[in-house]
Amino acid sequence: MIHIPRAEYTRRRKALMAQMEPNSIAILPAAAVAIRNRDVEHVYRQDSDFQYLSGFPEPEAVIVLMPGRLHGEYVLFCRERNAERELWDGLRAGTEGATRDFGADDAFPITDIDDILPGLIEGRDRVYSAMGSNAEFDRHLMEWINVIRSKAHLGAQPPNEFVALDHLLHDMRLYKSAAEVKVMREAARISCAAHVRAMQASRAGLHEFSLEAELDYEFRKGGAKMPAYGSIVAAGRNSCILHYQQNDALLKDGDLVLIDAGCEIDCYASDITRTWPVNGKFSPEQKAIYDIVLASQEAAFAEIAPDKHWNQAHEATVRVITAGLVKLGLLQGDVDELIASEAYKAFYMHRAGHWLGMDVHDVGEYKVGGEWRVLEVGMALTVEPGIYIAPDNLNVAKKWRGIGVRIEDDVVVTKQGCEILTGGVPKAVAEIEALMAAAR
Ligand code: GLY
Ligand code: MN
Ligand code: MN
Repeated sequence: MIHIPRAEYTRRRKALMAQMEPNSIAILPAAAVAIRNRDVEHVYRQDSDFQYLSGFPEPEAVIVLMPGRLHGEYVLFCRERNAERELWDGLRAGTEGATRDFGADDAFPITDIDDILPGLIEGRDRVYSAMGSNAEFDRHLMEWINVIRSKAHLGAQPPNEFVALDHLLHDMRLYKSAAEVKVMREAARISCAAHVRAMQASRAGLHEFSLEAELDYEFRKGGAKMPAYGSIVAAGRNSCILHYQQNDALLKDGDLVLIDAGCEIDCYASDITRTWPVNGKFSPEQKAIYDIVLASQEAAFAEIAPDKHWNQAHEATVRVITAGLVKLGLLQGDVDELIASEAYKAFYMHRAGHWLGMDVHDVGEYKVGGEWRVLEVGMALTVEPGIYIAPDNLNVAKKWRGIGVRIEDDVVVTKQGCEILTGGVPKAVAEIEALMAAAR
């Protein structure tokens, strides 16, 4: 299995600590276990920030980073080994595993955190945490601080500054290392295979969930624990619902099906959309819309390179889509004016992409100082233009209504431009039709 090597987690912690102010401390909790119903839990997914800094896969754990601390800069609180619980639920690293296998300088049982953590915070001027994202943890943090404050008369020094960790950490996460790109390529490779499989399986009379099953099969077989987000399998008019997830409608002859799905490998997402005809052959209207979306995506790729800014790719898609809609008579008027008045938004209402990484809509600022961010090597993003003609749009001829097309690929910015991670699934009309014909 391809995964992030241990040494990289050490490097990340060091890089973060190098940016923290002197005499400070950072505290991050693991994701909580979420109950699905009664005593059944949702599949556990570690918090992305926690995972980024530790690679530690268990719940009930807290990372503490204390740059410059002589007795160890990295302390991990975690669950203790427990023969009874491990018999029922699986192995735990325990405190020995935390130091031996996960690089902690020191580790303590999570049950001792209230006794130990106030002592680690005491005397530090500044606390970094993900304030506001975990209300229960914020409350615990204030309790630990209040323990120190209550001892001020004995000379205890509570911290005076509380700083959001996000800014430092999320900027680090925005730039993908070689190891991260390798993991993302693997997630992309498996997701491409899943889309190909779903294309080959597509038949009128099946249901949307039949194709979802093909995706899941390929994800799991490839070693992915789960999809990176709820798979969207949207046939016919459902393709015009951007985040459709019901996935239970019939696949009908003559309809398109739009699949937006990607798996996650070692907590790194892939995010692919393809749209194809259920019966393997595009109608003239479907092809006309499809080719505009594809051309707009090609125009966007050309705008992704170091020194181009974040919005250039989006602007390129808007121009190609607006011009294309005018040519088909779906919009009337001057292209520049239609862009200025945002008339295209009736058909293309979302942006051309987002950062991609441990979270499918990954962290990282899109603007810096009020200006669109300039792309740099190692940034990963999606390119996903679309055209959606609402089934009840009475301003267009009936033959266009209910057509929804999105094409989405994942890219990493390189010195020369960008590397497309998801090239392994066809997207030209002729390629899709050929692939589907061969599977019949
Ligand atoms: N799958 C959600 C998105 O493409 O942004
Ligand atoms: Mn997507
Ligand atoms: Mn996306």
